[in-house]
Amino acid sequence: MQEDFNLDRVVKIGEGRHKEIFKDLHKSDDRVTAVLKGEYVESEKIGSRRMKGSFYLTKILHILFPMVIPDIHLAASQPKKLFIVEKKQRSKEHLEMQKMAMRHGGDYDRFNDAENDKYYRYDALILDDPRYKRFCLELKSLGINFDESRHNFDYDKEGNLVYLETGFDPWDSSVDDFAISKFDANKLRTALEKLNDDKKERGLTYLQHLETLFMEEDKELQEKAVLEKQNKS
Ligand SMILES: Nc1ncnc2c1ncn2[C@@H]1O[C@H](COP(=O)(O)OP(=O)(O)OP(=O)(O)O)[C@@H](O)[C@H]1O
Ligand SMILES: [Mg+2]
Repeated sequence: MQEDFNLDRVVKIGEGRHKEIFKDLHKSDDRVTAVLKGEYVESEKIGSRRMKGSFYLTKILHILFPMVIPDIHLAASQPKKLFIVEKKQRSKEHLEMQKMAMRHGGDYDRFNDAENDKYYRYDALILDDPRYKRFCLELKSLGINFDESRHNFDYDKEGNLVYLETGFDPWDSSVDDFAISKFDANKLRTALEKLNDDKKERGLTYLQHLETLFMEEDKELQEKAVLEKQNKS
């Protein structure tokens, strides 16, 4: 696919600690582009394999929670690390909070007192919604390790709860000699097997790809650790 990665010509519509969110590079109004920023840009631990893993995990979770988790269309690692995802319409309250976040480069810790007041009002709104608690419990019961901050949630125009954190992280490579998965393949498989034929088949195929990527990552890290030990001795 021919991509235009010139971000100067696209409008930024959101920003958090790890990503900047732009109107889609293809100018289609039903997608947004989330570009990784800061330490994530250079991090060798977030390479092509982990971006692909994110893609498959997000696909699976979109199949399981189609209203809450936006679909994902693309994950790329070159020339930029980015995701293209389904665009959700945001509420006035969420947009107000996002504008404050963008003023501080996505750093919620830099809010002043007045901004904090608004932030905590929004936080309480989501926290008090039983659908938020149910969604978090269901994701955790599938072994998913995710960011449950309330600022990642919103309501679409039909009033459904939506989760706007782009790209689920499939594993952690912060420990150098093995990868720690942020999903439970057996629990995901059991959940997918309950779905109808098409969703089940697609979901299980994505899961197979995800497991293969995870095993490759784990193997590579272990081999690297062995080599490093050998070089030291
Ligand atoms: N699919 C989407 N549709 C519409 N807006 C979105 C979508 N995904 C993200 N956004 C907007 O961009 C903001 C930042 O996105 P995101 O949470 O992915 O960034 P982040 O850097 O990972 O955030 P955090 O600081 O929570 O780690 C969201 O809060 C939301 O307002
Ligand atoms: Mg976020």
